[in-house]
Amino acid sequence: MTTKIATGALAALLITGTAATAQEVNVYSSRHYDTDDAFFGAFTEATGISVNRIEDDADVLIERIRSEGDLGAADVFITVDVGRVARADEADIFQPLNMPELEDEVPANLRTDDWTAFSTRARVIFYDKNDVTDPPKTYDDLADPKYKGLVCTRSSSNVYMQSLLASIIVHEGEDAAREWATGVMNNLARDPVGGDTDQLRGIVSGECDIALANHYYFARGLAGEVSGLTEGIEDIGISWPNQETTGTHINISAIGIVKTAPNVENARKLIAFTLTPEAQKLLADGNNEFPVVEGLEPSEAAKTMGEFRPDEVPLGEVAAASNTAQMIYNEVGYK
Ligand SMILES: [Fe+2]
Repeated sequence: MTTKIATGALAALLITGTAATAQEVNVYSSRHYDTDDAFFGAFTEATGISVNRIEDDADVLIERIRSEGDLGAADVFITVDVGRVARADEADIFQPLNMPELEDEVPANLRTDDWTAFSTRARVIFYDKNDVTDPPKTYDDLADPKYKGLVCTRSSSNVYMQSLLASIIVHEGEDAAREWATGVMNNLARDPVGGDTDQLRGIVSGECDIALANHYYFARGLAGEVSGLTEGIEDIGISWPNQETTGTHINISAIGIVKTAPNVENARKLIAFTLTPEAQKLLADGNNEFPVVEGLEPSEAAKTMGEFRPDEVPLGEVAAASNTAQMIYNEVGYK
């Protein structure tokens, strides 16, 4: 009886069924945005490949991938900020992407052989329009003694702070970076506290006159109601740093294929999908980030913030300098 029914349509069904269970991709992600659900749903719809997702802090996921080794299920690792990508690289969890098509789609400074950006974010200087008539025009300006007691940043243990300093190391060298960290520390309005939104809130509350934050935290306050920010956002000015020099520091959301990935081909399909216009929109808009594929528009709120010239330094070099950046902050005593 068994042999009888395992023929024709049922046999085909069994075979398809077997194939279907293999059609999956395992994603370890440290991005926690609701719109990423829509992205993964769209991928499954377009390819039939189901997505199993584990979300956690980047460092936890890196450690998990490392300790699972050959038995691991992870196919791709997704994170934000090249400082975290650097830690993943250091833990040696990636294999080469082997996707030559990326060369046409993603600017060369936003990828290496092992990972690629799929969206970008900018680190911006914000200021109180009522109190600051001559806002800083460069990151270096933040260290100018004329801004003593005015500047708010988050703690140097934060990866965004480390990547910015790493980019200064790449452009100006370690001595200049040390001088910068000392100068900014001496200009602080308060001990570093809170996240990027809290630096912007500091301007609204009057505690800070100048603040460093990623652009999308401001865009979020424009697009919706962010308590402590939206009600005073009209009074916050935007200064896109380094427009006359190296360009504004940008960072990335990034994706790479895990060395021990059981589903490498599906991982490549997922990465290719991140660069389609549909996916670029879902991934970038969800957090008001900028698409990496040229010619695609950012979200309305991000657009409202105006245009700027981004720093084009290879982010792989910035990643490589991030340990030195942390060392310098520790050395000068930046909290
Ligand atoms: Fe963030």
